[in-house]
Amino acid sequence: MSEVTEREAVAGTASAGSDSEVLATLRRVFGYEDFRGEQEAVIEHVVAGGDAVVLMPTGGGKSLCYQIPALVRPGTGVVVSPLIALMQDQVDALRALGVRAGFVNSTQDFDERRTVEAEFLAGELDVLYLAPERLRLDTTLDLLSRGKISVFAIDEAHCVAQWGHDFRPDYLALSVLGQRWPDVPRIALTATATHATHQEITQRLGMPDAKHFVASFDRPNIQYRIVPKADPKKQLLAFLKQEHEGDAGIVYCLSRKSVEATAEFLCRNGIDAVPYHAGLDAGTRSAHQARFLREDGLVVCATIAFGMGIDKPDVRFVAHLDLPKSVEGYYQETGRAGRDGLASTAWMAYGLQDVVQQRKLINSGEGDGAFRRRAASHLDAMLALCETAQCRRAQLLTYFGQEPQAANCGNCDTCLTPPETWDGTVVAQKLLSTVVRLKRERGQKFGAGQIIDILLGRRTAKVIQFDHDQLSVFGIGEELSEAEWRGVARQLLAQGLMAVEGEYGTLVLTDESAAVLGRQREVRLRKEAPKPAVARAARGERKAKTVAAELPPELVPVFEALRAWRGAQAKENGVPAYVIFHDATLREIALQRPTSIAQLGTVGGVGEKKLATWGEGVLAVLAELDGADAGADPRADAHAGSGAGADSGPDAGAGAGASGPDLWAGGEAEPEPEPEEIDW
Ligand SMILES: Nc1ncnc2c1ncn2[C@@H]1O[C@H](COP(=O)(O)OP(=O)(O)OP(=O)(O)O)[C@@H](O)[C@H]1O
Ligand SMILES: [Mg+2]
Ligand SMILES: [Zn+2]
Repeated sequence: MSEVTEREAVAGTASAGSDSEVLATLRRVFGYEDFRGEQEAVIEHVVAGGDAVVLMPTGGGKSLCYQIPALVRPGTGVVVSPLIALMQDQVDALRALGVRAGFVNSTQDFDERRTVEAEFLAGELDVLYLAPERLRLDTTLDLLSRGKISVFAIDEAHCVAQWGHDFRPDYLALSVLGQRWPDVPRIALTATATHATHQEITQRLGMPDAKHFVASFDRPNIQYRIVPKADPKKQLLAFLKQEHEGDAGIVYCLSRKSVEATAEFLCRNGIDAVPYHAGLDAGTRSAHQARFLREDGLVVCATIAFGMGIDKPDVRFVAHLDLPKSVEGYYQETGRAGRDGLASTAWMAYGLQDVVQQRKLINSGEGDGAFRRRAASHLDAMLALCETAQCRRAQLLTYFGQEPQAANCGNCDTCLTPPETWDGTVVAQKLLSTVVRLKRERGQKFGAGQIIDILLGRRTAKVIQFDHDQLSVFGIGEELSEAEWRGVARQLLAQGLMAVEGEYGTLVLTDESAAVLGRQREVRLRKEAPKPAVARAARGERKAKTVAAELPPELVPVFEALRAWRGAQAKENGVPAYVIFHDATLREIALQRPTSIAQLGTVGGVGEKKLATWGEGVLAVLAELDGADAGADPRADAHAGSGAGADSGPDAGAGAGASGPDLWAGGEAEPEPEPEEIDW
């Protein structure tokens, strides 16, 4: 544990022996057997005094990369994090492991802060969490210079990137750390993987000599699925009832209004759900976040304002009811599922209205041309992911500049149920010529709803009103259903063969349209599944809905007994259940059935401190079960509400207004989100 200066480390003379100490710390304190991926290399580098920039996916295990150096090197590890609302939980979790942790932020009163500062100065803290705004204060810098610092960790380092959604001006001041403490190693960590962000972090934090560690961004336990949107809330309900009853999860919606509506809808249908968005007052927000962390099986319906840095290990699903604005956003959000490495689902419903709405938001939004172009290219990449007929995981990894392990991952919807593609050239021509005729013959532009009515030969009030039944294209598209036409329109928009314009999202041609109309270009389309078939296929493959169900039936009561015991301990100690043990740990205990403290200590996630605190309690639960009849039938889990069919046939649209609202497919006319309600 000798002190090594940064220069020595860079020259490659890091002390031998730190290696085994690092591994020993992982096992003793955290109770994990092995490092994941790049963790060990990062930790060794930092322990030896080097600077590091670390890119790892959400839930990849970045925290250990600074926590272990903080434990191994002399002094206190100072962690800069913007997630003030989570600091208490992070500190609680570390203390449960026997790590001496504390935090300083604006939520504390003077006395609390003084206590932590005194502990720091006395060398009694292994880890100190700090909000970035505190580092602008001279008092904080003075305090830090009076103590001994082992490492500076800059978590969520993408907050320094000025173009990013999470930009925090206070992060810009962090370059001072390298100037004031040149001998203290710095480690910057983020899950945002784009090249531009990566460069900006390195430059703005002033870390030109840092070693860069880029982990694999694959999250193999997450199953990616994107289904055509018909009636999103009902589809979501069916997905939850069929596959995730009783599981904790996050449902992302774009607008605050739909967050509220979705949470209400789920509650009405027997699913415990709460809303979370920036429009709620701080008290409600933190109460809902605390419930999510502490309770089992709560669903949070949220805008993107929710989730960053939340280390809840057993989030079993992340659902999107609206299209995210970028692949980066999608990947960070879906990455919040399955941090414990157990099977989890990333599910999204996506439809024509999403494309129209996002394009509209970009066209009518603020920002200069460059800003809009960037937003449009982010959206294009997201649409390409939605419309691909290839493996979604392979496409995601390629997007992040990584080589997928295989062309087919076997754990995404396109791998599980390969979609058929078909030659859509003729139908594309029919749709585009309708747009052309309206423009040329009538000087009109309409949204997709009216154009589809014309193609289907429907004499709706609006068709009669505009004499559209007199057009030569009237009724030329009767070979497809309305839902199929919507799929065609959506895919043409996604492929840039057609565009939307203006407040009402009217359809217009693009430069590319001409090649289709002129028969110089074939249009391949993904076949629309009449029903979300994938949900069914996947249900067959993995009946397992919960961790308990993944166990042999005779072990389920053991797992449930351990969970009940854990729940009681959590309540008594006022901490989330997973701070005591993760589900994955309880599952392994049920499988291994240890009968001694020594045996229990070999289970993953049972470190020294936890063994000392909870070991006897766990063994007592197991001993009691041994006395009782352990062969009782696991509770029959009846599937409720299987009748909630996912595809309610689209109603004949209530053709209100000019040509806006009729774009919506489902029976329920979903209100358009108002831009100011969207949490960017
Ligand atoms: N070597 C390991 N073995 C087993 N579990 C691990 C290991 N490393 C980390 N974990 C677990 O993985 C989970 C995610 O870790 P962590 O919170 O560090 O993720 P993160 O990379 O910071 O993600 P985010 O970007 O969301 O902040 C935690 O529950 C942690 O206990
Ligand atoms: Mg983290
Ligand atoms: Zn795949």
